[in-house]
Amino acid sequence: MNEAPAPGSLVFEPAKALPPTGPLVDEVLANDSREVPGSLLEQSAVFIGDKDLDVARYISQEFHDLEMEHVWKRVWQMACRVEDIPEAGDHVLYDIGTEQLIVVRTSDGSIKAYPNSCLHRGTTLRTCGGNVNRFKCPFHGFIWSLEGDLIAKPAAWDFPHVDKQNFHLPEVRVDCWGGFVFICLDKDTPPLMEYVGRLPEFFQEWPFENRHKAVHVAKKIPCNWKAAMEAFLEGYHIPTTHPQSVGYSGEAQGQYDVWEDQDHVNRVIVWVGAADTRSGKTDENALADSIIKDMPVLGKPGDIKVPEGETARRVMAQRFRDVVTKSSGVDVDKASDAEMLDAIQYFLFPNLVPWSGVGAPIVYRFRPFQNDPNMCIMEIMYLYVCSPDRPRRKGAPIRWLSDDETFADVAELGGLGAVFDQDYENLERVQKGLHMTHKPGVTLANYQEIRIRHYHAIIDRYIAEGRARA
Ligand code: FES
Ligand SMILES: [Fe+2]
Repeated sequence: MNEAPAPGSLVFEPAKALPPTGPLVDEVLANDSREVPGSLLEQSAVFIGDKDLDVARYISQEFHDLEMEHVWKRVWQMACRVEDIPEAGDHVLYDIGTEQLIVVRTSDGSIKAYPNSCLHRGTTLRTCGGNVNRFKCPFHGFIWSLEGDLIAKPAAWDFPHVDKQNFHLPEVRVDCWGGFVFICLDKDTPPLMEYVGRLPEFFQEWPFENRHKAVHVAKKIPCNWKAAMEAFLEGYHIPTTHPQSVGYSGEAQGQYDVWEDQDHVNRVIVWVGAADTRSGKTDENALADSIIKDMPVLGKPGDIKVPEGETARRVMAQRFRDVVTKSSGVDVDKASDAEMLDAIQYFLFPNLVPWSGVGAPIVYRFRPFQNDPNMCIMEIMYLYVCSPDRPRRKGAPIRWLSDDETFADVAELGGLGAVFDQDYENLERVQKGLHMTHKPGVTLANYQEIRIRHYHAIIDRYIAEGRARA
């Protein structure tokens, strides 16, 4: 296996080439009916190398163990939403590798996280999430408060060496951003708000604090967690894997941004249903139909006649604003066409993939399953915009799909369920093929797969730094 490069060895250059055909994202956004947030007009097309990625990164136990030790134990990772645990005593269990944490709302409304392990002889304190007013071990009955204080030890006379001070449940760092609850297993990792870099700025128009998790689906997938996630970080696969996406005409639709000063964040923007601004030859009604095909909530093909002088994109964006405002009660009139229609997808290292804008309220999370480099957990959440003054409902619990269930079986995922199934079909095949390949490396596109190369480089940086610390 290749040695990880030394920290700081990542060299950024301008991108070698951009898509040769148009329209590009900035050309499409220039025709928006609203002012587009400045951050969407930014571009950062870079080149950071074109060497193959070692196949061992996806299939070897050795590399998986390095990730566990030097990445997962050091990063901030999203454990749940605040609305998953609104009341005192509400808790979820968050698994990462062989670690399991209890993430709990305490009596004063703060959130704490403890390893799910009794301090007597190690028994797990909880087998599932729920609501309790204390944590009682089922084995001999030691009890801790929600705040982690020891409040009972049966046969106390036999434990003169155990007291409140030395038997407080160990706490793992917890912090929140955007209504997401993050945990960190390392005391030296910078604070969350430093870790997330520019992410809050990118979400300031439609903050996650004003969203509600209405759908949460999880499935175990027989592939490495990175192989699964990478299927969602690029639009290059869309014409082949999702041929029904007729509105998607090719590589020019994706803008891939990686910033030299953002280790943990990158982005893709994929425009939807725009005219070919270069040739000027476009059938706007056909474009409207292509948008509807991907977004059936907007109507049926043939429903819409685009008025003379208007564009399909503007008309469909307005129709979508009306649909969202009607269903959520939130005025989304300020949302640009891009924020209604386009795929604007960010990445937070190592495994969170939140979409911005209003129209696609998606968040993905990918994790290894236990200690297995060939198995992972993929989760899809829908976080709908909601009025800040509306009473908060509890977040939707995780619905785990069995091996036989498909994403299309989940009505709440809407038309995208079948699209996720198409992605799923590739994943087992990727992992199998990586085990069988006689080629030592995975080859990436310079531009459209830059986000994949970028986060692999950051993984290497973490491993190199971790080894240097050891
Ligand atoms: S193992 Fe928990 S009380 Fe004994
Ligand atoms: Fe896909």
